[in-house]
This record gives sequence, C-alpha cells and structure tokens, in this order.
Amino acid sequence: MRPCIPPLLLLVLCAAAAARRLTVVPQPALTDAETGAFTVNASVVVPRFDPGPKALDFLRREGYVVIRDVLNASDLALARRLFWAFVEGAGASSADPASWRRALSPNQYGIAWGLGAGQSRLMWHVRTRPRLLQMFALVWGTDDLLTSFEAFSLLPPREAEAGWSLAESWFHTDQNGRSRPGLQTVQSFTSLWPQDERSGAFVVVPRGAFVVVPQSHARHEALTRRVYAARPGTSDEQQFLMVPSGDRLLATPHPPHLVRCGAWRDAVGAGDAVLWDSRTVHCNTPPLLAGGGEAARAAEARGGEAAEAEAAEAEAAEAEAAEAVMGAEEEAGQEIEGRRPGRVVAYASFAPRSRADSRTVVQRQRAFASGQTCTHWPFEMTCLEPPQAVGEPAVIARDPKAKCANGSGCKYIHDGTGATPTPTPADPLADRIAAAKAAIAPGTPPSLGKRAKPPTPDSSDDL
Ligand SMILES: *[C@@H]1O[C@H](CO)[C@@H](O)[C@H](O)[C@H]1NC(C)=O
Ligand SMILES: *[C@@H]1O[C@H](CO)[C@@H](O)[C@H](O)[C@H]1NC(C)=O
Ligand SMILES: *[C@@H]1O[C@H](CO)[C@@H](O)[C@H](O)[C@H]1NC(C)=O
Repeated sequence: MRPCIPPLLLLVLCAAAAARRLTVVPQPALTDAETGAFTVNASVVVPRFDPGPKALDFLRREGYVVIRDVLNASDLALARRLFWAFVEGAGASSADPASWRRALSPNQYGIAWGLGAGQSRLMWHVRTRPRLLQMFALVWGTDDLLTSFEAFSLLPPREAEAGWSLAESWFHTDQNGRSRPGLQTVQSFTSLWPQDERSGAFVVVPRGAFVVVPQSHARHEALTRRVYAARPGTSDEQQFLMVPSGDRLLATPHPPHLVRCGAWRDAVGAGDAVLWDSRTVHCNTPPLLAGGGEAARAAEARGGEAAEAEAAEAEAAEAEAAEAVMGAEEEAGQEIEGRRPGRVVAYASFAPRSRADSRTVVQRQRAFASGQTCTHWPFEMTCLEPPQAVGEPAVIARDPKAKCANGSGCKYIHDGTGATPTPTPADPLADRIAAAKAAIAPGTPPSLGKRAKPPTPDSSDDL
C-alpha cells in the first residue's frame, strides 16, 4: 500500500481513498455541506486538572473532565510495553497495523475486547494507577470501589486505515435515562499516546480524538425521551443509546467539541485520563480534516509549499513535545522506532462496592479469574465475550494447579472485587490481595483458579 505522507496536499486524497468510514448516524449540523465530511469544533481548549475538588466541580458542571498525568513517564512506558505485549501475544506484529485488526478484531469503534483483554496486565496496570483511583474515590466519596472489566480502544495510524471501516458520527450516551435516571456511573479512558494535533495545517486531528457534548448529562432524560420517540422499539434494558439524526443536542447552546487541552501539545496528552458521566453524550472519532472542505480549500489557497512548511513546523513542535516521554522510554530501552498506533485508550469505570450484591461480587471474581471482558457497569454482570486467555493476555498462570492465593505462580493476580485507592503501598500486590480478601462477603470463599466452568453473564445456576 502506498503510504500517505507529506506533501500535505496529498493527505486529503489519501485519506479519502484509504478511509472507508462508516457514518453511523448522519448529523446535518456536523456535516460539511460541500464534502459531506464529518466535522466538529476542534478549537475549544479545555483545562487539565489534578485529581481534586476543582476537577470534580468541572466534571459535575460539564459532564467530563481531563485528569493530567494519570500515567507518569515510567507508568506510561510500562503501559506501552504491556500494550505491545498484548498485541504480539495475540499473534499480531507491532509493525503491521493490518495484523492488529486481524488478531484483535476491534469493532468499528476500535474497541478490542476479545482474548481476555479486559483482564490483561495492561488493563490492570491502568486501572490501579493511584491518581485515577484518587479521582474516582473523590467522585464517589469512598475508596471502597468496584472496577469495570473493560478493555481498550485502538485506532490505526491514518495511513494504515484502509480495511478498518472506522465509525464516525456515533454520538451516544452509555445510559438509558428511562430505566436508569440520574447519576449512575462515571467512566474514563487513559490515553497511551498523545492525541496530538497540528494547528494551522488542515489536518487537525491526525490520530483521532474524543468528542464530547458538554453539559449533555444535564439534558439526559429529555434526550432519552427523544431517543424513544425516534426509535419506539428501544428496550428499557438497553443502556447504549445512539443520538438520533438531527437531534437538537448537537446544535446550540452547547455543541459538541473535541477535547483539546491547553498545556500539553494542545490535546489530551499521553498518560492523561478523561472521565465522563455516563449520561454525557460523546463519541470518539478517527482522524479528521479541519472544517472539511473549507479547510481543504484554505490549504489549497495557501499552496503546497506553505502547507509543507507548516507541516514541518508542526512536526518539529510535536517532536520536541514528545521528548520527555521518548526520553524516559529510550532510557528504558523500550521504544521501537516507528511503532505508533493512531490512538490507544484504556477504559476504566469505578463505582462504590455497595452498589453490587454479594452474588454479583462473586461472579465478578470468577470473571476476573477466567479472563472475561465486561462493559463499563462495575456492579453487574454484563460481560461481552466468552472468557479467553491466550498468550501474554493470560491473567492467571497457565498452571491449572496454581491457586493464585498470593501472586506466586501467577502471571498477574487481582481478586477482581475492588481496588485500593491508597498511595502506592510498599507491596502493592500483597496489599491488593489483602483488600480483595477483606472485600469478599462472609461465607463466600474465593474460588480463584479452581473453577472448571466459566460463568456466563446470565447464569443463575452458577451459584
Ligand atoms: C468553536 O469553539 C470556539 C471556542 O469556543 C468558538 O469561538 C467558535 O465559534 C466555535 N466554532 C464553531 C464553528 O462553532
Ligand atoms: C510513577 O507513578 C507510580 C504510581 O503510579 C509511582 O509508583 C512511581 O514512583 C512514579 N514514578 C516516578 C518516577 O515518579
Ligand atoms: C506465596 O505462596 C508460596 C507458596 O505457597 C510461598 O512460598 C510464598 O512465600 C508466598 N508468598 C507470599 C508473598 O506470601
């Protein structure tokens, strides 16, 4: 395949040729009249916060918030190593984006949940980071939390997009306001690579990004009513609601925008997390052209040379900004030249353990032990795939006799009942296991590593 690289003017053509995008729900308000391209405001700059009351205020008001540096340089380097280990453990080559798709079978939204991804070391690494847990503890006013068993989303580099059929314009909420009104869950993703952008050039979102409709959580019940009006067959059980075409939420007074941040490379930086209220309307997007036709015309008017100069400038800024992280990685001798997906984010949602009944807690322990990936709901059994664990993703030691009572003999161990949002203890593993044991309801002994039959999401005969 011919690579889509500068001169920049070629990018439009290449992107158009390579990317057969799936427009999930056309939104006239966000469609460029001339090119028909999906467009979204990329000019809104949002603040990044440390975990704390200010971040919480912003989350409550806007329905989302960016928490900076959930992964520091060393945590980030480890996260990337674990990511590539997972990819390669699944049989793909890190250097060949087409093989990622074949091996991981991400859906049109880039979400890969097979192969035990939800219990992979990558996911446990991310979901046990102190700053993430600190923020979620603040959100819920307790550090006795259950974690989701979600996985990650993976977008290919733009030049390797052919064959992926990535979705765009899929604004949705993860909660049904009829069956579950009010605040239910808060979700997050943590970004493994910078979602950087080139301001000035007409390709503004080269690696995909998160798009949010600010304050839409406050309009969630009305939106739910409109979803039911547009699709009367909607089940109350269905929590994922797609925003209907032309819905007023996508126009004024709070139109959707890209989540770009002021301080780090104008975008959600590597290691930053975005939290959102599950009622908040959002979607991710593959790479975008700024303003569709208008920007392309502007670029044409500027001429190829100017565009190239601008690209070179942006490239230099990007390289400089990436230095800190790259430096840390090079020191660790881990970064391999050229391996860089478009966008990789690891999802994690937490809720107070008090929201789950003891049966669910035990089922979730089993889901942990059997390598299941589940939805963002931490306090119920809504799992997506039959349990699997292959290659590096395996959570529990291949040795079937290993009970994993204490980490020895296990590749990785976590009881799956919760997490301890305390500062990193001297022995995190022992501490987590102790916390997990303490969390197990009296009279229900843990059965990690002993079970012959994996649980199914709805099995009531399982206990
Ligand atoms: C995008 O957002 C910026 C900042 O809020 C605003 O000034 C601008 O008018 C918006 N652009 C469009 C096309 O809505
Ligand atoms: C990075 O963060 C982890 C906790 O997530 C911490 O244990 C570690 O000491 C930090 N590393 C540095 C260099 O600050
Ligand atoms: C874990 O169990 C093994 C075998 O039972 C034992 O040798 C080891 O000391 C234990 N480790 C810890 C940290 O308790």
